[in-house]
Amino acid sequence: MRQRRTPPPGTTSRRSFLLAVGAGAVGTGLLTEAVPAFADSESPGLTRGDAAILRFLAAAEILETDAWQQYNELGGIQDAEVPGGSGSAAYTAALEVLDSDMPQYIHDNTEDEFTHFTFINAYLASKGKETVNLDRFRTLPSSKASGAQQIGRLTNLMQLTVDTSWWTRYRSRTKNPDFGDTFPQAVPALKQGQFPGIPRSNDDLSPQDHIQAIANTAGFHFAFIEQGGTSLYPSLAQRVTHPEVLRILLSIGPTETMHFQTWQDKAGNAPPLTDPTNTQLVFPDLNSPPFGGEDFQTSLIMPEPTIFLDRKFPVCSIIRPTQTEGAAMGAVKALTDNGLFRGQSQEFFGVLHDLAEAADAARHGH
Ligand SMILES: [Fe+2]
Ligand SMILES: [Fe+2]
Repeated sequence: MRQRRTPPPGTTSRRSFLLAVGAGAVGTGLLTEAVPAFADSESPGLTRGDAAILRFLAAAEILETDAWQQYNELGGIQDAEVPGGSGSAAYTAALEVLDSDMPQYIHDNTEDEFTHFTFINAYLASKGKETVNLDRFRTLPSSKASGAQQIGRLTNLMQLTVDTSWWTRYRSRTKNPDFGDTFPQAVPALKQGQFPGIPRSNDDLSPQDHIQAIANTAGFHFAFIEQGGTSLYPSLAQRVTHPEVLRILLSIGPTETMHFQTWQDKAGNAPPLTDPTNTQLVFPDLNSPPFGGEDFQTSLIMPEPTIFLDRKFPVCSIIRPTQTEGAAMGAVKALTDNGLFRGQSQEFFGVLHDLAEAADAARHGH
């Protein structure tokens, strides 16, 4: 029988450190020790690594939910499934330029994220493991636009720096980020400044091309967020131990991919324009030179096959990246670079760093 709780040689001091971090956090209410339904010795409990991976995913899902909730309040459908907010007609209309079903998709994506973190935390609690609660970091301001709730937020959607290289990454037949390859931006301007993905106030609702630029930014940001989850789950699944934890990651991860697939299709409908209030923000016509062709054309919404594992193999249509080393910390860096946490406290970044570090220390069997 596998000795799950025996740390591999050389990891004892690191484990002690991580536990100390966790213990400190319990005292401040971040992590909640749950009462196990069954003693670990009587049920197939989770390894420390499994719990760390699930906790990091719970944190990521809480942060995703917070962002999607803000989008839903202003541009989605506010109902019993996803309550809060009362909508912004001008913003919603601009989103509907990308697809008339955008409010429904925003609503459904928001609800999905809520169920992801709620489920993972409940599962951790059922195994007697610490759960994740980030409520004390809900300190960022809400949009002042009519339709948004006035509550503290975890994420900032009003100063986004959106990386749109996922667009060309999934269209390349010859490159793979796991081989060290890099990819050009679909919308270079979005990577070179700070732009709102939601109206900051009612002043942002006009002129028409300005609120459309905000909706376009949101359209590309939706896909950025969801391609991250699309890679994160398979990347971390490679290091879990318990078959049921693997099942959880293999069952949630592909829903992120379903989201990404939808958003990639909708982003391609964002009308080319220049924001009249900030002419730096240009959305190019992705179907015309110097864009267009295989790397940019908007109809290529399924992954192009590319190199995988080793160039000696034939190309394969795959999710990329899926390399597992440092995957959690990579996700934190991508979300931070995205501007999602602008204004958050050093303590917030410290907690997120610790959760990611613990997840990345997890190894199959431990
Ligand atoms: Fe999710
Ligand atoms: Fe997601």
